[in-house]
Amino acid sequence: MSRPPLSGKTIVLGVSGSIAAYKAAELTSRLLQLGAAVQVAMTPAAARFVAPLTFQSLTHRPVITDLFAPTSDIAVDHVALAQQADAFVVAPATANTVAALAHWLAGNPGATLALSVSAPMILCPAMEHNMFDHPATQANLALLKQRGAVIVEPEEGRLASGLVGKGRLADLDVIIGTVRHVLGLSGDLAGRRIVVTAGGTREPVDPVRFITNRSSGKMGHAIAEAARDRGARVTLITTTPPPVQAAAGVDVRRVATALEMQAAVAEAVRGADALIMAAAVADYRPAAAAPQKIKKRNADGVLELQLVRNPDILASVDAPVVKVGFAAETENVLENARAKLLEKGLAIIAANDVTAPDSGFDADTNRVTIIHASGDVEALPTMPKIEVAHALLDRVKALLD
Ligand SMILES: Cc1cc2nc3c(=O)[nH]c(=O)nc-3n(C[C@H](O)[C@H](O)[C@H](O)COP(=O)(O)O)c2cc1C
Repeated sequence: MSRPPLSGKTIVLGVSGSIAAYKAAELTSRLLQLGAAVQVAMTPAAARFVAPLTFQSLTHRPVITDLFAPTSDIAVDHVALAQQADAFVVAPATANTVAALAHWLAGNPGATLALSVSAPMILCPAMEHNMFDHPATQANLALLKQRGAVIVEPEEGRLASGLVGKGRLADLDVIIGTVRHVLGLSGDLAGRRIVVTAGGTREPVDPVRFITNRSSGKMGHAIAEAARDRGARVTLITTTPPPVQAAAGVDVRRVATALEMQAAVAEAVRGADALIMAAAVADYRPAAAAPQKIKKRNADGVLELQLVRNPDILASVDAPVVKVGFAAETENVLENARAKLLEKGLAIIAANDVTAPDSGFDADTNRVTIIHASGDVEALPTMPKIEVAHALLDRVKALLD
């Protein structure tokens, strides 16, 4: 098993006095599960919403609530602590704390820490929508952004007041994804641009039907996430419709058909370093989609669909990028994959037998054999898709270097 993605990282989590403060406990727990060391600092208002004991129990560390408490070693050490931090996350950030941070008002623990922190700051505002929309809040956020803070925009939805608007704390997946993105910016793929495709294309038959395949998009999404965590700028071209969330910090383009994917890839590969095609692109599409829903009125009970070949997206890319393909096969896996590697001019192909339960579509694991253009063959064991993603990226990185 590889190390958890945030191991070795120290995150200072500032919690301020929003009704969403309870969500910071879940955030803390998830950051810890990802391997991070988490030091929580709470404003006095936050401590009225959630007891510091909650965070202390989760993190096994004292929570900073009062920098002036004479018995608090950690308070004295707050500057040292701030300097150890790899990221300073404020979630939830109240309108008041956003103002304090924007204007360097060191009157609360979070803002005092912020003054000493040189690590990237990630702010997750949560407030009533009229507070969020207020020009003062917007100006404060703009100022913080200008100074390099990353703002995780709140979501639209039902607010604690019962009103609906933009102000809910962002989804924890988005906050964590942003933290991982920011922490990965110094990773081994920093400065690289990687284009990844994911999912099965959908070729329309008529306005309500399409031909597709069993690809879930999980492998491509895992590659995008892993490359993001290692500092690459990632464009993910995916057919997976929401609610399948793409990793935060990844530039997502949603497409449906092979032709749309081809156009998106052609645009995205300009200036990119690598193209990793994990999408299952339909080889054929209906020659023409019927303009109206096809009815079952034909007398002989037979419907004939004429299919035409889709373009070969990987073969059509002539940009100078490292090209990586996947060969999902049901028989003669290695021979078929080798032929594909040569036809498409790939640097690497990952071959897998999709009839095996642990390496098929929709599985969370994959067992691939990596074939290199040089002729080298590496059979990897069954691994979670995220680890397969890292293994492939290790090979891509070696080629780029
Ligand atoms: C029940 C309740 C809920 C609140 N929720 C929020 C909120 O979601 N966002 C916000 O900006 N302020 C909220 N406030 C107001 C802040 O708690 C208040 O401005 C406080 O001074 C913030 O202090 P702090 O930023 O130091 O934590 C709420 C107040 C109360 C009483």
